[in-house]
Amino acid sequence: MDTIHIQGGNPLKGTIQIGGAKNAALPLMAASLLTSETLRLSNLPHLADISTMSHLLSEMGTRVAMEGGAPNGGHMGRVLALNSPDSIETTAPYDLVRKMRASVLVLGPLVARFGHARVSLPGGCAIGTRPVDLHLKALETMGAEIELCEGYIDARAPDGLSGAHVLFSNVTVGGTENILMAATLARGETVIANAAREPEITDLANCLVAMGAKITGIGSDTLKVTGVEALHGADHSVVGDRIEMGSYAIAAAITGGDLLLQGARPDLMESVTDVLKMAGVNVAIEEKGLRISSSGSLKGFDVMTEPFPGFPTDMQAQMMVLASVADGASMVTESIFENRFMHVPELVRMGANINVHGSSAIVRGVGHLSGAQVMATDLRASVSLVLAGLVAKGETVVSRVYHLDRGYERLEEKISSCGGIIERVKGQ
Ligand code: UD1
Repeated sequence: MDTIHIQGGNPLKGTIQIGGAKNAALPLMAASLLTSETLRLSNLPHLADISTMSHLLSEMGTRVAMEGGAPNGGHMGRVLALNSPDSIETTAPYDLVRKMRASVLVLGPLVARFGHARVSLPGGCAIGTRPVDLHLKALETMGAEIELCEGYIDARAPDGLSGAHVLFSNVTVGGTENILMAATLARGETVIANAAREPEITDLANCLVAMGAKITGIGSDTLKVTGVEALHGADHSVVGDRIEMGSYAIAAAITGGDLLLQGARPDLMESVTDVLKMAGVNVAIEEKGLRISSSGSLKGFDVMTEPFPGFPTDMQAQMMVLASVADGASMVTESIFENRFMHVPELVRMGANINVHGSSAIVRGVGHLSGAQVMATDLRASVSLVLAGLVAKGETVVSRVYHLDRGYERLEEKISSCGGIIERVKGQ
């Protein structure tokens, strides 16, 4: 298996282009199941999860084609064209769903358009049990009959879904996306209350509107959807990845660097930039993007993860690296997932001083981290180890690189173009 080798200590300086958001692209791709016409998506990141969703959709009978492309064969400028004919196979098999939980996003669109879906239950993952009960309950409220059988969700609505008042008891990003998509083709009006407000949901809602859906309240916690007979094709550019942007912002901050981050919207990152400012990092919104610079002298801070517009759980591990090298103590509280401190023991092996008490971690800043051989069990934990490697003394070797490939496009290239010493070593 491949490993990433990092020599720490170099400040990152230069410009990094941020790609399209994985977490926006995945539901957008699933939305192509809602119409027999072609949905064209641009600004898609080149990531393993996108390939997994392409694979799942094409297994089900969606025609997935890459159109155009950069002259150098790169991914930028390419458009993914997705066309789901009326003769789709409505089963999402275990083999593909187990690779990526977001596969469950095909459930809502399939039931809404075809009246039937059989989707493997995703199961738990490294950061928690992550059930999909709220997705299923909401679909039942809309008239679907759901059975769990042989590890599969079997959802049926032969006469179509009906608009309903759906109140999520917990804020769920995937649940909101599934029900939003399903509601576009349901009979009558659906109100989604306590909806998640993540920018990726707003991006999905805007694309659905471009496909002919009737949605109001976009960006708020109450979405109103009036079902239509059919949706049509559209062209849509995927919103920039705020988590990729935040991860590189921390790379600049901890290495005493100066990075201009282009391609994502700084206005969607206020909860992250607020914490960076508290830690003494310079944050400037410029015409071309977000500039992050730091002398490397950082102060401790307290942060708690929350649904958007709060601080994102997907930035928690990276922010903990910053806390590890800041002066004084920080408290990092995880309120979304019950088991999202898997990076802590690895950071401790690199010299960090972190104590976990329930859902909070007390991080006491240390003079320096030291390079080590480390591995992680999920995507954001893995990138936190890369960040720690960039500031650590000596060499860090990160294994299980496939986690990084799920969410960070050309990571080594982007970091090394700004002065970081990082390379991928191919495994046997
Ligand atoms: C999405 C993101 C993920 C991010 C998370 C929270 C994608 C592809 N993934 O994941 O990167 O970390 O939002 O911002 O966009 N829950 C239930 N029952 C349900 C659904 C969720 O109990 O039916 C719980 C989960 O276990 C978790 C919390 O609700 O504790 C939030 O999960 P949710 O917002 O649904 O996360 P995902 O959509 O899976």
